[in-house]
Amino acid sequence: MDFWKVGFLCLLLASSVLAIGAVELGRHQPTERISGSAGDVLEDDPVGRLKVFVYELPSKYNKKILQKDPRCLTHMFAAEIFMHRFLLSSPVRTLNPEEADWFYTPVYTTCDLTPNGLPLPFKSPRMMRSAIQLISSNWPYWNRTEGADHFFVTPHDFGACFHYQEEKAIERGILPLLQRATLVQTFGQRNHVCLKEGSITIPPYAPPQKMHAHLIPEKTPRSIFVYFRGLFYDVGNDPEGGYYARGARAAVWENFKDNPLFDISTEHPTTYYEDMQRAVFCLCPLGWAPWSPRLVEAVIFGCIPVIIADDIVLPFADAIPWEDIGVYVDEKDVPQLDTILTSIPPEVILRKQRLLANPSMKQAMLFPQPAQPGDAFHQVLNGLARKLPHDRSVFLKPGEKVLNWTAGPVGDLKPW
Ligand SMILES: *[C@@H]1O[C@H](CO)[C@@H](O)[C@H](O)[C@H]1NC(C)=O
Ligand SMILES: *[C@@H]1O[C@H](CO)[C@@H](O)[C@H](O)[C@H]1NC(C)=O
Repeated sequence: MDFWKVGFLCLLLASSVLAIGAVELGRHQPTERISGSAGDVLEDDPVGRLKVFVYELPSKYNKKILQKDPRCLTHMFAAEIFMHRFLLSSPVRTLNPEEADWFYTPVYTTCDLTPNGLPLPFKSPRMMRSAIQLISSNWPYWNRTEGADHFFVTPHDFGACFHYQEEKAIERGILPLLQRATLVQTFGQRNHVCLKEGSITIPPYAPPQKMHAHLIPEKTPRSIFVYFRGLFYDVGNDPEGGYYARGARAAVWENFKDNPLFDISTEHPTTYYEDMQRAVFCLCPLGWAPWSPRLVEAVIFGCIPVIIADDIVLPFADAIPWEDIGVYVDEKDVPQLDTILTSIPPEVILRKQRLLANPSMKQAMLFPQPAQPGDAFHQVLNGLARKLPHDRSVFLKPGEKVLNWTAGPVGDLKPW
């Protein structure tokens, strides 16, 4: 497409720009709903549909770790902490385990950080195992189902595989003791060793107040066609190249670094959030994991997410019409990204923007403090409620054992 046409397109889109973030501010936006999905299901109220028992664990499994490094409260894995806090004061919480539909074990597995602030998940399996040992010996509920009515929040790159490198994560596999439990995790990729069937895929944590503070006027034109900030190569962890992001980010850089339609760079500007509100398309390529907080940011800022991560399962995919909001591009097609995006008709782009303006969708992406109706906490509960009642077959006969406590890498069997 010629540049004057793109300029015209940007102008056209600018006239109906949807650059809102806060739900309350979304009221005056032209929005569109797809019946039967976003809106209808997202606005379900989980209260009264399930009861959750929260195990009380020694603080070394949660609060103490957080005290050691409060950066856990702001990083993209923070959902495990906020979910715990939310459940403690949620009306779905029950103090009587006999009437609980679901059991929750509050373990902060991603809060052990390097000096750079990245989680070291290598001890997580030992920690999780220790917590399960504790609940299974102190309460009768674990042994009853060996975890089939228990859920765990495991928001690391590859969920309960606990490694940031895909190969290593696959090698380790999902922690054997979690085979029967429901996992609430950011990681989602179809037919992947680390995605257990029945898992609930959640958005990563992105700070709601901070995003809210960077909102710009709704009518600001979207003069940037494609926007991306982040790594293209991870030289430190992948010196040879091609392994990080399976080469997709490198391909973005190599093909489009000089293309004026592409505003892409490794530099993270202070205007990052504002820039997303000035962009039509925001690239959301895989990194070490298929997902990243960019997806949440794109939805909040009304920038059409361009999802480059083959077979990704997006958050709350049973409630959010991702195909209608976003654009999926196969990893192998990255070199044609310019043609793919400039070929999308303006009316299709406008429709995606109207759908993105739906406040329920934005709400579902966030873990706000305090919680609000329809937010990500509520969507997790909705997901758990939709799995009820449990099939009778999950309850084991007295003394029956299914899980193998000695399976898994030898290092993971050491006490924590
Ligand atoms: C659950 O089973 C384990 C053995 O697999 C046993 O050590 C433990 O005491 C049992 N828990 C309870 C509460 O009976
Ligand atoms: C449990 O796993 C270990 C290690 O993989 C294996 O040696 C053992 O035979 C398994 N036990 C059962 C009962 O399957």
